[in-house]
Amino acid sequence: MSTAIALDGPAGAGKSTIARRAAKALGFIYVDTGAMYRTIGLAASETGIEPVDSPELDALLSEITIDLTFNDNGEQVVLLNGRDVSGLIRTPEASMTASRISAVPSVRAFLLGLQRDMAKAHDVIMDGRDIGTVVLPDAQVKIFLTASPEARAGRRYKELIEKGMDVKFEDILQDVITRDFNDTHREIAPLKPAEDSVTVDTTELDFEQSVEAILNVIKERL
Ligand code: DC
Repeated sequence: MSTAIALDGPAGAGKSTIARRAAKALGFIYVDTGAMYRTIGLAASETGIEPVDSPELDALLSEITIDLTFNDNGEQVVLLNGRDVSGLIRTPEASMTASRISAVPSVRAFLLGLQRDMAKAHDVIMDGRDIGTVVLPDAQVKIFLTASPEARAGRRYKELIEKGMDVKFEDILQDVITRDFNDTHREIAPLKPAEDSVTVDTTELDFEQSVEAILNVIKERL
């Protein structure tokens, strides 16, 4: 049987960078489920479909393929119908579209199957919002990774500035707060800690300390 580690938490808590590093240390596959929602959001934007429940969106889901792969540097590459969209899904607009489209039941159902298949086939550390609660309720380790909205917005801001994007801290903070609200208040699979999860707060931790905290929880539980 394969081993699954569920890593959930709000936007910008550092889940993906921490999960990637922890996966490497453990020899597990890292699955970034947020990238999957982002990719569906991008597919919808590119075809002029609103990120809301509709027959048009359902038709789109039946036509697209999403693959998570890795390049030679170990960086995640996200393919939409075979096209590399790794950069396109990281803009603030793509974040907001992903947040909206992730509330659509048919989108969640579509990705649930893909995510469970990946966990069946590999030892995974899977990051998202509902991994411990809905996608992999039997995961051997469940971690809820969080940090204050200001700390999370500050990290996202730095990341985007380093990529050369022209963004304002206040806008990023507002995005974080809006996405938190969307993610925790939607009817289906809202963001919340699984009852049997361990919460790790990284507000006061740097990257290395956060990785260490996560690896300690994993080692204790496995
Ligand atoms: O982790 P992220 O910021 O890349 O996620 C983008 C959006 O996708 C986020 O607003 C919430 C949604 N999401 C979700 O609803 N469930 C998941 N398992 C992962 C992401």
